[in-house]
Amino acid sequence: MTATTTLVILGASGDLARGKLVPSLFNLYCKRRLPDGIQVVGLSRTPYSDDAYRDMSWQDVSAHPHLKARESDWRGFAANLHYVSGNVGGSGGLDALARRLAEFEAGSTGANRVFYLALAPQLYEPAVTAIETAGLHEGAGGYRRLVIEKPFGWDLDSARAINAALHRVFSEDEVFRIDHYLGKETVQNILVFRFANAIFEPIWNRNYVDSVQITVAEKVGVGDRSFYYDRSGVTRDMVQNHLLQLLAMVAMEPPSSADPETLRNKKVEVLKAIRRYDSREAIRNSAAGQYEGYVDGDGVQPDSNTATFIASRHFIDNWRWQGVPFYLRTGKAMARKVSEIVIQFRTAPHTMFTLPPGQWLQPNVLALCVQPDEGARLRFEVKTPDEEMAIQPVDMEFEYRAAFPDRMIPEAYERLLQDALEGDASLFIRNDQIEEAWRVVDPMIAGWEGADAPRVELYRRGSWGPQVSERLIASTGHRWLQVCGTHADIRASQLAAPGGRR
Ligand code: BG6
Repeated sequence: MTATTTLVILGASGDLARGKLVPSLFNLYCKRRLPDGIQVVGLSRTPYSDDAYRDMSWQDVSAHPHLKARESDWRGFAANLHYVSGNVGGSGGLDALARRLAEFEAGSTGANRVFYLALAPQLYEPAVTAIETAGLHEGAGGYRRLVIEKPFGWDLDSARAINAALHRVFSEDEVFRIDHYLGKETVQNILVFRFANAIFEPIWNRNYVDSVQITVAEKVGVGDRSFYYDRSGVTRDMVQNHLLQLLAMVAMEPPSSADPETLRNKKVEVLKAIRRYDSREAIRNSAAGQYEGYVDGDGVQPDSNTATFIASRHFIDNWRWQGVPFYLRTGKAMARKVSEIVIQFRTAPHTMFTLPPGQWLQPNVLALCVQPDEGARLRFEVKTPDEEMAIQPVDMEFEYRAAFPDRMIPEAYERLLQDALEGDASLFIRNDQIEEAWRVVDPMIAGWEGADAPRVELYRRGSWGPQVSERLIASTGHRWLQVCGTHADIRASQLAAPGGRR
């Protein structure tokens, strides 16, 4: 018999497992990308039979908006899908899992085990202890891996405590920390864009780049996560992880190889170079907002000062980026869903054209459109036809949908699950990256949550956030740019002015 691989999903009845993990595994199965003979075991406290779990999972997969699930494929996948009930908080809570693993692994020449903690973060430590107590981390032959999701702590100290707890049982190279943004096709493409094309790297520095803006805007509010969200806020929920990862991809030095450690070293290096603020400087360099009606959510304090929007300005103290402001902005209940990275270049140093009064040459802009209109745009000036000398900006566009009409952009979790099973750690976050990211955001959190924190500014749902965010970016002579999206989308959302005024 060959080696068996078992993927155990702890938290199988939760949203992540049902909405993302099982559908992604099924799609990987359809693409023949799962290891031969893999067994997938769902585990949670609720008792289900294997068949009941398979039925529930089929409902999830067949209702999934981006999957065309065929029942014949499902039957093949479901034959290796199992369920065991267990409780990571109770004594002997993983005994049934241990018995099931022993059945799968009997006679195997090497048993690989991947534990995916699709659990609430307060259960990470108990889960790792339960794995240890049941002896599931030991055994001859195969590998052991632990996959966990953000949030990795609430601040630097708690992140360190979690890392220490994980490292008691798993070594760092066995821990795969997921930031699902890194699994997005367009985020992986940042590396290809920068390092497989010779024309960008020479201008990717302070001599040519004037400023960088990274926006991750969501149209939805906090929904039924308001209890969690009110204790977390936007900086922990989005900036510590997704936005800083995007920044690292854009700003890192060119790695000499795609080896996971080389890549991750470069990212840590750039995160370390982000200028450290104290909490007062962090406030001066950021703008926080809360959408109107947020406090009506279940479990939200009526006088909550939790930010659902934050914009911040950062500087990277190295040769490449000295003096270039990096603006980050993210929020809930905004004008539209868009994630984009906008590189604004310096304007032409001299204008030989006589422009009408009040008109200037516009700077070139390169936008990497992360979602939902995946692609890239380059904005440059052209002569307006049939006019003596009028100049206006136009966009040259690359769209994944048009360039690859017969390819679907996969769910980020597909890539991440496949990489975790193959042991490729490139897209996973190392513990030092986590800690550096907390060092950047801890002063922001301290500033906006401390005893003398200013009130966050209210903004209207469907706007671009509070007025104070416009003032923040205007203070260096910039304005927020929206480049990605359909033209109709952009026009409509530009009507949604910041701060709730039309
Ligand atoms: C999650 C945050 O990490 O990312 C959510 O906790 C947010 O609050 C989500 O909605 C956004 O992810 P995406 O892929 O929809 O941009």
